[in-house]
Formats: sequence, structure tokens, C-alpha cells
Amino acid sequence: MAVLASGVGSNLQALLDDPTVGPWVSLAVSDRASALALARARAKGVPAEFVDPGPHDRDSYGLALLDLFARHRIDCVALAGFMRVLSPDVVRAFEGRMLNVHPSLLPAFPGAHAVRDALAWGVKVSGVTVHLVDEEVDHGPIVLQEAVPVLPGDDEQSLHDRIHEAEHRLYPAAVRLLVEGRLKVDGRVVHVLGEEPP
Ligand code: GRF
Repeated sequence: MAVLASGVGSNLQALLDDPTVGPWVSLAVSDRASALALARARAKGVPAEFVDPGPHDRDSYGLALLDLFARHRIDCVALAGFMRVLSPDVVRAFEGRMLNVHPSLLPAFPGAHAVRDALAWGVKVSGVTVHLVDEEVDHGPIVLQEAVPVLPGDDEQSLHDRIHEAEHRLYPAAVRLLVEGRLKVDGRVVHVLGEEPP
């Protein structure tokens, strides 16, 4: 699988460090040459590629990604803080095989400032969503969610730190379910096969 990350890459690290998921990660990609995520992958011996968005529009950037994925025989994609909207070509090519992790309980607070937006709204509970990627931003069918409390005195950093801890548990778990073929998508609803009802 390929992991796409623009920034620090702590979620990429959690995937690399997971005993089951780590060996599946065969490529890291970033749209920023200096992304720490690339260094984290290389430190684990995983190929890491900077794909420069400079010369591209969204569609041709997508074609560059698809070409790279084909060369690395990529079956699944995990977005981990990738701050770029993917072209419809990429989304369609990996329909049902591409996950994203988002720092809120979707559908609340989509977008690039989810933690800040949740704090400003005054919610008492936020959380993490892992979802399949469709053509709308932060919108696809939900695979796993975990609630994270907002505590008195939280600022964006402290809440995002607590959310990150949940992400680092939830994202590897969701990737395992995807790769093991245990996700059955029924419209917007994702059923986890082998999970007993409570
Ligand atoms: C995470 O909070 C993720 O939910 C969001 O971007 C952030 C990336 O963090 N999509 P990191 O680079 O994995 O540390």
C-alpha cells in the first residue's frame, strides 16, 4: 500500500510501526519535499517519493500519482494528512481501497481546520473518523470512529495531541480491516465482517 502525507507523518509512523500493517507499506508519497513523513519512511527502508505539485493541475497531478502507484504495484492507499484534494481519476481508480483519517467526528467539522473549528463551536466531544475516500472532501463512508473528550482549558494543540493518540490506534486498525477484505460497503454504511453485534 501507499501512504500519502504532507506533514509530520505521525499517522504514517503509526502504520509503519504496526506489526501487521507495517510490512504492507511499500511506498510513501508527499507533495512537500521537506515533509518529515518522507524521512520517517526512509528510516524504515520504505521508498519515499516527493511528487512536486508545481508543474501540475489537479488532473495531471493525479495522473502522476497513478503512474507512480502503477510502478510500485500499489493496491491500497492511505491518506495521512495529505493536504491536497485528489483528482476524480485517482479516487475512481482506488474506489473502496483508499482510506483517510480525519480529526473530528464526521460529518461534523470537515475541512483543513477541524480541530480549531470544533473548539470554536464549543463541542464537549470531538474525535477521529476513518473513512473511505469518495469524490467529496471528508465525505466517504465511515469505517471507524472514536470519540475524544474536549477538556476545560484545551487549546488547538492539546486537543489535537489527544486526537492524535486515538488516530494512532484507530488508523492501523482500519487499514487492517481494509486489507483483510473485511469491509462491506452498503451505500453509506460500512459493515465490518466478522464483527458480532453487541
Ligand atoms: C491528522 O490529524 C489527520 O487526522 C489529519 O491530518 C493530521 C496529520 O497528522 N488528516 P500527522 O502528519 O499524521 O501527524
